[in-house]
Amino acid sequence: MKRIITGLFLLSTLAFSGSYETGKSLFAQKCSLCHVGYIAADKIKENFFEKKNTIYMLGSPTVNMLAYAIMRGPKHIGDSKDPEMQQAEIEEYLKGALYHPNRANSICDPEIMKYYDEKTPFTEKLSDDQIAALARYFMEYRKHRLKKSPPSTRMLTKKYNAVNLLAEANAGNKRIIVEASSTHCPWCKKMKKEVLQSEEVQQILSKGYVFVDVNVDKIALPFDLKKKFKQITPTFFILESDGSFVARYPGSWEKADFINILKEYAPRK
Ligand code: HEC
Repeated sequence: MKRIITGLFLLSTLAFSGSYETGKSLFAQKCSLCHVGYIAADKIKENFFEKKNTIYMLGSPTVNMLAYAIMRGPKHIGDSKDPEMQQAEIEEYLKGALYHPNRANSICDPEIMKYYDEKTPFTEKLSDDQIAALARYFMEYRKHRLKKSPPSTRMLTKKYNAVNLLAEANAGNKRIIVEASSTHCPWCKKMKKEVLQSEEVQQILSKGYVFVDVNVDKIALPFDLKKKFKQITPTFFILESDGSFVARYPGSWEKADFINILKEYAPRK
């Protein structure tokens, strides 16, 4: 008897677990009228905290703001270490947010709330599996978004070498940036953390460049750059998509200055 019950229970959780893809298309059909698509976090901050919502004039959270509030914000729902339980909690939360919206229970940033329109109760009845699919969509939102744009900074290795770089740069009509770094290089680490990994820089890089980090202690610089390298790490070399030399920037750069360099050399399309 016990067995049958667990079997049934399993079946029902499977049936109601929903899929990311279904959730994504539901969101597009039913929610995107008010909730717009992805806007980068630093742009959102600028919009609300510096420009009083005059850049985007958002009347409701963007999809990535919702996913962030649900999964990682200060009032996130459930515990991501227990995804099954968390999904159930997110489903409950979504039902509440949709059918009994109440600002007192909001998980959004209270500073931003004042810019939003009043949320009226959602009039269409969604089934339990539709709610489950929406929950999965938010749960997996970040993973899928990051998958679409893989980190735009990679290490040069034997497997990911000059040949791969040229092929990638050519296919995307992009310039190449080679960073010469070294194992013991505090400035490289600082710049990686504060500049290269920032969302704004990542976006510019992924649009216009193929970026590769070369640890000169372990592997030789590609494209004959050794001749142009003055043993300063980091040094950034900008190259055409065929590997020919364009410019050299030795030293560590502040974010704003580095962005100016990137904008100057980004191929115009
Ligand atoms: C008619 C416009 C509209 C539609 C359609 C809409 N929403 Fe919203 N939603 C809003 C607004 C406005 C807010 C922010 C104001 C608020 O929460 O009171 C909001 C807030 C939310 C929140 C955050 C609630 C909180 O904790 O503050 C969630 C989650 C949400 N919506 C999910 C959805 C989902 C999922 C759908 C589609 C099934 C959807 N919404 C459809 C307008 C809408």
